[in-house]
Amino acid sequence: MTKLDPHSYAIPAEAKVKHLDWTATVDFDKKVINARAGWEIETDGNADSIRFDTKDLTIKKIILDDDVVAKYRLADKDPIMGQALVVAIQPKTKTVQIEYETSPAAEALQWLSPQQTAGKEYPFLFTQSQAILARSWVPCQDTPGVRFTYTADVKVPKDLLALMSASNPTSKNPDGQYHFEMKQPISSYLLALAVGDLTFEAISDRSGVYAEDTIVEKAAWEFADLEKMIAGAESLYGPYQWERYDVLVLPPSFPFGGMENPRLTFATPTILAGDRSLTSLIAHELAHSWSGNLVTNATWNDFWLNEGFTVYFETRIMEKLYGGDYAEMLASLNLQDLHDEIESLSEKGESADTRLKLNLEGRNPDEGVTSIAYNKGYFFLRSIEEKYGRDKFDAFLKDYFSENAFGSVDTESFRKYITNYYQKKFSIGLDKETFDRWIEEEGLPENVPQPKSERFATVDRILASWQAEKRLDKSAAKDWSTHEWLHFLKNLPEELSPAQMEAVDNFGNFTASGNAEIVTAWGVIAIRNDYERMEPKIEEFLINTGRRKFLSPLYNELIKTEQGKQKAREIYRRARPNYHFVATNTFDKLLGY
Ligand code: BES
Ligand code: ZN
Repeated sequence: MTKLDPHSYAIPAEAKVKHLDWTATVDFDKKVINARAGWEIETDGNADSIRFDTKDLTIKKIILDDDVVAKYRLADKDPIMGQALVVAIQPKTKTVQIEYETSPAAEALQWLSPQQTAGKEYPFLFTQSQAILARSWVPCQDTPGVRFTYTADVKVPKDLLALMSASNPTSKNPDGQYHFEMKQPISSYLLALAVGDLTFEAISDRSGVYAEDTIVEKAAWEFADLEKMIAGAESLYGPYQWERYDVLVLPPSFPFGGMENPRLTFATPTILAGDRSLTSLIAHELAHSWSGNLVTNATWNDFWLNEGFTVYFETRIMEKLYGGDYAEMLASLNLQDLHDEIESLSEKGESADTRLKLNLEGRNPDEGVTSIAYNKGYFFLRSIEEKYGRDKFDAFLKDYFSENAFGSVDTESFRKYITNYYQKKFSIGLDKETFDRWIEEEGLPENVPQPKSERFATVDRILASWQAEKRLDKSAAKDWSTHEWLHFLKNLPEELSPAQMEAVDNFGNFTASGNAEIVTAWGVIAIRNDYERMEPKIEEFLINTGRRKFLSPLYNELIKTEQGKQKAREIYRRARPNYHFVATNTFDKLLGY
């Protein structure tokens, strides 16, 4: 990789890291981590410095090869990128040990009070490194194009368990001291740590779930098919390369649905719907063990390579386990979401971001986290599958993962790889114009694959007959899953009268729902139509949930009216202390905080 990542100060072609030996003490009182990052490095033979990314770190001392005190400098601070740490080395330097302390405001870290946990007794800490926040807790070459192995020794208060994206303990050590190893090389955005009052429950020999005591059983029930998912994924695209696969269920302030930290997916508790209806999220994070963690996007401009491939793989896992119609419901919801995203980006004058290949230089890579990478990426890959056949596409994907394993790929090298592959293996010349249209141009091409779901067709009939006959037949919906209800909600007319709101709520019992996807979809409709019965629920949900995907539609709907804006600001003021930085960074701007 000679091309530079616009979101990192590192110059890996000159000097790059190979292995991290991390020693850390987690201090809940001061909300800081005191640590030493011991990096094994490799130079091009001439380098007289190595560059790391940092953000809000206090650097105390740097030692080379265990005995030489190094000269270093921290460059000017950039609000998004942080500061380059430039360490003077010899071309033959083998190790760089950096002693440092994190800031209480470190952007990757969320320190929770006992009150913010399920057990209410112990504090909790978790990290979220993707995209470029790893640098706020470990000085590192924070670019997905650089990989390293790691070991770690972490000291935490006794009574708490520490977990990382590495080999993990399954029970607490009385001394609060934990050792970790990650033997497969990973990128920095996959560094992860969680500390809390956690217990483990096995699901199979190689998988299980970590959660607070009061929810661990619920979680193990919800994820009962975990082993089937892993085996199903392997049967599609080759062996799982990370030994174990466990899921950690975090407190509700976790800002994402899931994060594919290697060996240990971090997940929101909002997927514990009680009916296993939201487990495609686990299939998604598991799929990242191939698309993302094994074959990694070279820069955040190529983010669709991580997410689009993962949505494709996720959908195939769900199809394998639960059948074609199930998968088509997911795809259909995704297509609707994609159309909405394209419309909303165009309304904001941000249509350039509807391209798969992004240009995020000088911007926060978080701005690339839209439905485009996920769902336009998915439908692009699906269009290749449909045009030339599934067998060919599966052969391609399997080889793509194995031949690029533990490497990084950018959009151009993906294009070259697939073009050569189809040419050599199948004598098929992939159509350059179509590829340009999907990758380089805005919006969607003409022939987007159209998911066909029988079950959604039934929902559409109910919606149509409601329009015609003004009645909703409850018995028609008695077997509906979360997905059918979501399709129903997302296809209601924009404006509903009080009587209609009443009828719809009566039909689906939405206001009483404990399912976060439904609460969000119904919440948006309730706000738009001034449905007061839902108000307390929305308020409670905004305060207690930190998942950005749910908060966004609700806050965005609220701020559409002057009165709603007041309300949103007032709720946000109270909710904000519960949110992680990635959420406040989004909503501070939106709500003028
Ligand atoms: N890797 C992402 C989460 C992410 C993306 C974090 C970019 C930071 C920057 C994760 O795999 C993901 O996509 N999560 C989704 C769930 C999924 C089912 C679409 C989420 O959190 O909603
Ligand atoms: Zn993902």
